[in-house]
Amino acid sequence: MPQIHFVNEKLTVDAAEGENIRTVARRNGVQLYDGPHKVLNCRGLGHCGSCNVIIRKGSENCSKKGFLESLFKWVHPLLGIKILSNEGKDVRLACQTKVYGDVEVETHPPINWHGEKFWS
Ligand code: FES
Repeated sequence: MPQIHFVNEKLTVDAAEGENIRTVARRNGVQLYDGPHKVLNCRGLGHCGSCNVIIRKGSENCSKKGFLESLFKWVHPLLGIKILSNEGKDVRLACQTKVYGDVEVETHPPINWHGEKFWS
């Protein structure tokens, strides 16, 4: 049974194989959303980009990025900025990322405006 460790919350929980990170987070009281997105989000449809997290360890145990997630990198304002400013880190949509093994997840990834290559 895969385990998800939420780094900021210092919480390790079990997940069913193939379960997505958003579902596991909600079941265990982990808040993925910031500000108004706590109410205004797409409820896991992969459209709003507000459930983004960084996979710190275990990327190989996650499902591959689907079409929406790959597309969002370039066209979605929130997710695009998070991905570009966290270049080199594995920023994913929690609602679209299924787990098949142990992973370590950082919720609420910061926007790193002065990241190494953000402005270049
Ligand atoms: S909840 Fe909207 S993209 Fe995940």
